[in-house]
Amino acid sequence: MSELSPYLRSVAQQIDGMIDRNFNQIPGELNRASAHLLNAGGKRLRPAVVLLSAEAVRHGSTPDIMPAALALEVTHTFTLIHDDIMDDDSLRRGVPTVHTKWDMPTGILAGDVLYARAFEFISQAKAGEAAKVKATALLARACADICEGQYMDMAFEHRTDVTEKEYMEMVEKKTGVLYAAAAAIGGTLAGGNDKQVEALYRFGLNTGIAFQIQDDFIDLLTPPEKSGKDQGSDLREGKQTLIMITARKKGVDLMKYRRELSPADIAAAIKELTDSGVLDDVKNKARALVLDSNRLLSILPPSKERQLLMDVGEFFVTRST
Ligand code: IPE
Ligand code: IPE
Ligand code: MG
Ligand code: MG
Ligand code: MG
Repeated sequence: MSELSPYLRSVAQQIDGMIDRNFNQIPGELNRASAHLLNAGGKRLRPAVVLLSAEAVRHGSTPDIMPAALALEVTHTFTLIHDDIMDDDSLRRGVPTVHTKWDMPTGILAGDVLYARAFEFISQAKAGEAAKVKATALLARACADICEGQYMDMAFEHRTDVTEKEYMEMVEKKTGVLYAAAAAIGGTLAGGNDKQVEALYRFGLNTGIAFQIQDDFIDLLTPPEKSGKDQGSDLREGKQTLIMITARKKGVDLMKYRRELSPADIAAAIKELTDSGVLDDVKNKARALVLDSNRLLSILPPSKERQLLMDVGEFFVTRST
């Protein structure tokens, strides 16, 4: 894993530079609102998955694929702006969310601007026309799936009988598909064959699900100074996370935390969940998903980038931000 951190840092730097060049010279308040979260940083993990997948298929492909990496980050940031409206959150990437700094209509429009510009960027990748059409279709399909996943996420707030299977379908759509698209788009644009692209898609999908399970941990466990996001938002909103579902199975009722929460309330919930073994159970499921996913990559020739991609999977379930 030791080589992953510097790699992620270098991708983040390159993406930051592209964001600066493409977003910060445009005048107007709406454009400032669109650029707000892009400029606030973030881990830039989806671009890293695009580029590593491309490199694992064709060494040296990074410069050609860079615009597609940016497209994935811009798509992701669009979903964050809208997600913060849906989740009623006030902090993102350590700064105020777009709809709280501006207002809800501006948040909706700022997200829409990024949604559209993502497709502008993916069209700028250097690859054969057929590969570019396929990559564009992958991104479009992922966006439609994310909407579906987000719809399920919100609909589940009104239920207390959501099953683990339903949770898995929801997070596959709201989070897994964008990682799946990231990996498959990188592989496609770099000239990968159908089998390689399919394996990359499945790798992204499964590790992306694990990524969301870990995100649910972070929501509960990581203080806002560190995560840059609201803590306990999932409890407050009554989100049907795997933690919530597993707790219910073990007789731990988390619905009593569905209200404004103090740090002491959150600490009490964490203690209940730790003592009852809920957190251990959920963590083991996330780890198993990553182990399974890494096996899919054996279809690719051994390379430094293939190893880094596996390390990314590991990182998804060990990170604390
Ligand atoms: C947060 O994604 C949204 C989810 C899909 C869970 P990240 O944890 O990748 O957020 P940034 O990009 O680093 O801010
Ligand atoms: C949202 O999941 C995933 C998206 C599609 C943006 P969350 O609502 O858990 O993401 P965070 O925790 O706010 O980043
Ligand atoms: Mg959210
Ligand atoms: Mg959400
Ligand atoms: Mg979350």
